[in-house]
Amino acid sequence: MKTRLTEALGITCPVIQAPMAFAAGGALASAVSSADGLGMIGGAYGDAAWIGQQFDIAADARVGCGLITWKLAERPHLLDQVLARDPAALFLSFGNPAPFAPAIKEAGVPLICQVQTLRDARRALDCSADIIVAQGAEAGGHGDARGTFALVPEIADEIARQNSEALLCAAGGISDGRGLAAALMLGADGVVIGTRFWASNEALVHPRILNRAVAATGDDTIRTRVVDVVRGYDWPSRYNGRVLRNPFIQKWHGAEDALKLEAGVEAAKWAAAQEAGDLDVATAFAGEGIDLISSAAPAGELMADAQRCLAGAAA
Ligand SMILES: Cc1cc2nc3c(=O)[nH]c(=O)nc-3n(C[C@H](O)[C@H](O)[C@H](O)COP(=O)(O)O)c2cc1C
Repeated sequence: MKTRLTEALGITCPVIQAPMAFAAGGALASAVSSADGLGMIGGAYGDAAWIGQQFDIAADARVGCGLITWKLAERPHLLDQVLARDPAALFLSFGNPAPFAPAIKEAGVPLICQVQTLRDARRALDCSADIIVAQGAEAGGHGDARGTFALVPEIADEIARQNSEALLCAAGGISDGRGLAAALMLGADGVVIGTRFWASNEALVHPRILNRAVAATGDDTIRTRVVDVVRGYDWPSRYNGRVLRNPFIQKWHGAEDALKLEAGVEAAKWAAAQEAGDLDVATAFAGEGIDLISSAAPAGELMADAQRCLAGAAA
């Protein structure tokens, strides 16, 4: 299927794999790009050495890189290091892209801005973003409160009103061909998919966590700040993260101030559980679309499924 997104990025399937913190390394990104989508390294909080290693792993595959914008503002020099790797695109999310947009545009690298509100989208359009990603609250990982189904057409209309050439992707809750087709009907040129690729063979996810997570339903997920409090991450207050509920989250959700007081002990416990894959305490950042996923699969197979669904929908 051809869309404006496939033509702009030189891919044949209008799917961008989300730059997922700690989970999306070079192996996943290159698998998606090799299967004719756009793979992204999850540069997230900006560990320069790790990002460099992942570009090395991706080797000759054309992959992009995502960075968390409010964190990039604390270490802006990182942008030059990432641009030096000639990424296929730079994906900024969660914060103001304005200070970074000029350098990205000057480097000739497509700028992808993930947004959570219409106001965010207008700011991204002011920065001449090439691709706007409208992220709904169904999404796994961090985000805000708006739902995908109304946000996508609202931003599609805004792009049209402004006569902008910017492309639009939908993100949040898209885990199979039905979501993909629906996103295109809502006015998107393509989709950004996270959770479905998080549950892939190439993702950097503990197998014990993955095995338990794929048995969960969307009802088992919750948006919470608990994980940021326990990690000591200073996220702006409008954002929280969608994760799978577990005894640790149940204990501390709504009791974040008390958790801060216990932070030392609880952080050590949480880190050990993450290492061991103990999902009673460790965190699985997963979206509502987890219900549509019953097992891990190779990323290339997921892309082939997406191509088949789109061909069917087009027919
Ligand atoms: C495990 C995980 C980690 C994520 N980490 C990031 C991140 O570091 N930066 C970012 O922009 N988005 C991140 N996201 C959100 C994705 O960009 C995307 O919006 C989301 O995955 C789309 O919804 P879906 O999970 O329902 O497919 C993450 C999502 C997941 C599932």
